[in-house]
Amino acid sequence: MIDKTVVMSRDVCAELDKAVAEAAPDKVFVLYDDVTERLCSPLLASSRALAGAVRIGIGSTDTHKDLNTLSSVWTALQKGGASRHSLLVNVGGGMVSDLGGFAASTFKRGIPYINVPTTLLSMVDASVGGKTAINFGGLKNEVGVFASPIRVIVDMEFLRSLDMPNLLSGYAEMIKHGLISTPDYWAALMRFDLGTADVSELHDLVAESIDIKARIVAQDPKEKGIRKALNAGHTAGHAFEAFALASGHPMLHGYAVARGLVAELYLSHSLKGFPSDIMQQTIAYIREHYGRFTYTCDDYDTLYGLMLHDKKNTGGEVNFSLLSNIGCLELNTIVSRRDIFAMLDFYRDTMD
Ligand code: GLY
Repeated sequence: MIDKTVVMSRDVCAELDKAVAEAAPDKVFVLYDDVTERLCSPLLASSRALAGAVRIGIGSTDTHKDLNTLSSVWTALQKGGASRHSLLVNVGGGMVSDLGGFAASTFKRGIPYINVPTTLLSMVDASVGGKTAINFGGLKNEVGVFASPIRVIVDMEFLRSLDMPNLLSGYAEMIKHGLISTPDYWAALMRFDLGTADVSELHDLVAESIDIKARIVAQDPKEKGIRKALNAGHTAGHAFEAFALASGHPMLHGYAVARGLVAELYLSHSLKGFPSDIMQQTIAYIREHYGRFTYTCDDYDTLYGLMLHDKKNTGGEVNFSLLSNIGCLELNTIVSRRDIFAMLDFYRDTMD
């Protein structure tokens, strides 16, 4: 792996025991949410390092990614006698690694942590790259720090308990990685059929996805430039996600990203000359696998307003990470209201 802290494992307990032995902590804490405690902790039952660990439990889902939960983790670390030489192991999806990573990197000014991602989304995105955060003041990922885990242990076995929508949610970030990297990786993703394959067959595609992200993060850990490539599909995607949530029909993050990619590929094509055939093939894949989500023209102003307030923007303009071809990035592209409305038209014509 490009990021030497990431291990693709076929024996998560052995890998975890090795990582903990190398870290030589004075005490080990393990963070689960209530779903991962039930579904994923059995896979860690034979880990010697976790046998004596202090368990910390939090609620699952994004609603718990808040200051109260963070405070409860700090309290559990304190009451459990954690020192600066203790270690936190985060077992779960992006919510657990974001919040657990933030708790660890602030407790006593920072203790080491290990991520054991249990969802496809967290394997290919949240667990790697060092972003940690909680939601605050009604805004997602509003307070956090950049702080990398000392090890990320990725094992496909955790995906066996994941449902198809959550697999697809992670796969959307992989499609994004395909678009921002190479035609070969993109084509392999378009050929792969999540519906019929065994999750173990995802191993190489996941490893490649993590390497694509790691290569970018290594060049720009604090997102000053090239890391913005990872925001492809996310300007429109975040607007769709927030719109769906406000309408009472929450959408999984990856579904919003997939739909955001459809919308933004139109901008890439019309403004930057992205090839039509690759755009059409990607859209066909997303339409087939991610199903229907739409809005009416009465919603355009709301969606535009959501894009305008995306925290990636500055100066009252909407900023996109576009592409002129697979792997050819056009970062910081300011797009006019008129072109955004045309994008919203295109999305409805294509996906409705
Ligand atoms: N999820 C995008 C990033 O880590 O930069």
